Amino acid sequence: MSDSETLRELLCARFQDAQDLDTGFAAAAHVRMAAHVSQRRYRDEAVPLPMLQTLAAVALAAPTKSDLQSRDILIVTDAARRRTLAGLIGPDEWIAAAPALLVFCGNHRRQRMLHQWHGHAFANDHLDWFFNAAVDAAIVLAAFIAAAEAAGLGCCPLSQIRNRAAEVSAFLELPEFVFPVAGLAVGWPSAAGQISPRLPLSLTVHVDRHRDPGEAATRAAIDDYDRWRDARQPYARQRRVKALGQADFYGWSQDKARQYSVPERADFGRFVRSKGFSLD
Ligand SMILES: Cc1cc2nc3c(=O)[nH]c(=O)nc-3n(C[C@H](O)[C@H](O)[C@H](O)COP(=O)(O)O)c2cc1C
Repeated sequence: MSDSETLRELLCARFQDAQDLDTGFAAAAHVRMAAHVSQRRYRDEAVPLPMLQTLAAVALAAPTKSDLQSRDILIVTDAARRRTLAGLIGPDEWIAAAPALLVFCGNHRRQRMLHQWHGHAFANDHLDWFFNAAVDAAIVLAAFIAAAEAAGLGCCPLSQIRNRAAEVSAFLELPEFVFPVAGLAVGWPSAAGQISPRLPLSLTVHVDRHRDPGEAATRAAIDDYDRWRDARQPYARQRRVKALGQADFYGWSQDKARQYSVPERADFGRFVRSKGFSLD
């Protein structure tokens, strides 16, 4: 099959409305990106540190806001430290079993030093600065995943690392102005993984101006997506059944609404402020 045909097949597995996309320009890199799956099952085989370091270098070649380079990658290699970190991230067995754990951090510490060294006041102590560092870290996270997948590795980002941000920060000795954005489990996949369907492109890709279709049409499109997705990959279990009951039909929208019907990481703002940031 040509790259163009493979890309079309992958995009049609991901989106309901990908049939008419132009895939004529497709190269192997597009096929690989479109085939992305978050991988949570790994062979019991180490990922060599030199390989992770090179992948980190590749990832850090990604664009960075104003050349500020306000992000770091922390690679946890020591098995005992990995186990402790996995315990802080969550009780999940697969995280503890991941051959490598990385942490992508926003780093505003260096910038503050530049101001001290050159005697210029830092006049941007507001939300935008936290945002710059968080976005930079997220871009590097995505670039690392693409680089790792190109090398045959599987990855799963972990926002769960922020569940106990203060403890993770103390354990990893993150200094003032350095904060975790996401963890990343990395290893050699032991199973193929499944392409996860995304919302229709009609809702998420806009041309010239944002074309919000309005609530009724959005609801109809998401309803349709829920059914399309359910026919391919029904949820294995429902969330919060005790509190919210068993739904007759359990689609993506129900799952996401249930997921965020309980507070999650409500203390993250306090943690970020404790690291020195003003979020005003
Ligand atoms: C920033 C970020 C944080 C994530 N955090 C977690 C997490 O804590 N635990 C987890 O199992 N998956 C996590 N994921 C993986 C998502 O659940 C996954 O990307 C999504 O379900 C879509 O599946 P796919 O990546 O296989 O296409 C995270 C993904 C991103 C981008």
